Amino acid sequence: MSMDKYQEGNMEVFELNTKVISGVDCLEYFNQYKNQGIFIVCDKFLAENQSVTRILKEIDDSNKVVLFTDVVPDPPLEEVAAGMKRLMASSCDVIVAFGGGSAIDAAKAILFFTARQTGKVFEFIAIPTTSGTGSDATAATVITDLQAKVKHLFADPMMLPAVALLNPDFTRSVPKPIVANTGIDVLTHALEAYVAQGRDNFSDCFAEKSVQIITQSLLITYNDPDNTYHREQMQVASTMAGMAFNKAGLGINHGIAHNLGGMFHIPHGLANAILLPHVVTFNSRDEGCLNRYALLAKVTGIAPFTDTARVAVDKLIAYIRDIMEKMEMPTSLIAWGMDRNEFEAGKRQLAENALVDTCTQTTPLMPTADEVLEILNNISQ
Ligand SMILES: NC(=O)c1ccc[n+]([C@@H]2O[C@H](COP(=O)([O-])OP(=O)(O)OC[C@H]3O[C@@H](n4cnc5c(N)ncnc54)[C@H](O)[C@@H]3O)[C@@H](O)[C@H]2O)c1
Ligand SMILES: [Fe+2]
Repeated sequence: MSMDKYQEGNMEVFELNTKVISGVDCLEYFNQYKNQGIFIVCDKFLAENQSVTRILKEIDDSNKVVLFTDVVPDPPLEEVAAGMKRLMASSCDVIVAFGGGSAIDAAKAILFFTARQTGKVFEFIAIPTTSGTGSDATAATVITDLQAKVKHLFADPMMLPAVALLNPDFTRSVPKPIVANTGIDVLTHALEAYVAQGRDNFSDCFAEKSVQIITQSLLITYNDPDNTYHREQMQVASTMAGMAFNKAGLGINHGIAHNLGGMFHIPHGLANAILLPHVVTFNSRDEGCLNRYALLAKVTGIAPFTDTARVAVDKLIAYIRDIMEKMEMPTSLIAWGMDRNEFEAGKRQLAENALVDTCTQTTPLMPTADEVLEILNNISQ
C-alpha cells in the first residue's frame, strides 16, 4: 500500500472551514441575528423535551423562525423532500441543524437539494446533541433509500457547516446505549481515517487526539452522565474525528455499516462497533496498515512504545472489545437481535453493495466480495 510512500506530483489540500464554538454559553452566537429567516431542522425528541426552546430564547424577535421537526433516525429521501417543501415556502436564509447525526444529515440534504433547485445560498449552523457522527464538521450526509434498503453517503462543500455550536448541556439526556453506540462511531471514524487512502499529517493529528480523548472520557461519560467536563471532551473528540475523515475518507467498516443500517435498521454506531475488531484484523493483513494502527495505539497510550506492531494492534483490538463489554454492547448481529433468515437471504447483496459504497473507495486494503462475506459471517455468530 502507498500510504507510507512519497508520491511525486501529488498535491494535498487540508481545509478547515467550520468555526467551532464550544461551551455552555455558545448559543449566544444567535444574538447577532436580526430580521432574518431562520429554518431549524430538529430531532423530534429535542422538540418534545423543549431543548429547542434554549435556542429560540437566544433568537431576537425581529427574526422569523420556522421549525421542521419531522426528523427520524436514518433520515429517508421522503423526509428530505418534505423538508425542502417547507424550506422553499419559508424564504429562510439561515439553516440550523439541531440534533444527532440524523437531524444534521437531514438538514444538509434539505439544504443541498434546495440550493441546487433554486440557486439560493444558505448560511448553515450545526448543533450536535450526540457525540458521534462529527457531521457538524463534515461536508457529508447519509440519506436512506427505504425502497432499495440502502444508505447513501454523498458530500459537497456546500453542506459543510460554517459554524458548529458544541454545548455539552445538550448531550446530558443521551441514553446509555446511545452514548455507547455514538462513542464507538467516533472511534471508528478516527481509526478508519488514520489508515484511509486520503490521510495526511493534518488528518492524523485530529484522529490521534480524538482517540486519546476517547480513552480518557468515553467510559466516564457512559457511567456518569452528569460529568460535564468529559461530555464536553467527547463532543470535541467527535468533531475532531469528523475533521479527520472529512479529509482522509473512511473505509470498509463504514461501507458495510451503511448497508447493515439500510437493510436491518441497526443503529449506525452499533453496526460500526460490531464490525470494528474484525475490520482492524482484516486491514492488519497489510503491513503498512498494521504499522499505522500500532503507531496510533502507541501515541494514544493503548500500547507501550516498546511493543512490536503485532502486539500493539492486538492491544488495540482488545481495547475495543473491552470498552464494548464495559458499555454492555452486543458483539454480534445475532446478539443484537438480527433475523438469521433475513441475513442469510440478503448477505451476498449486502457484500456487493458494501463494495460500491462511497466510504469503501478510500479503504486501505480493498477486500473481495468473498472477504466481505467472511467478515459478515464472523459478525453474525
Ligand atoms: N454525515 C456524516 O458524516 C455521518 C457520519 C457518521 C454517521 N452519520 C449518520 O448519522 C446518523 C446517526 O446519527 P447519531 O448516531 O447521532 O444518531 P441519531 O441522530 O439517529 O439519533 C439516535 C437517537 O438518539 C436520539 N437523540 C439524539 N440526541 C439526543 C439527546 N441529546 N438526548 C436524548 N436522545 C437523543 C434521537 O432522537 C434518536 O432517537 C446515521 O444516519 C448515520 O448514517 C453521518
Ligand atoms: Fe459513522
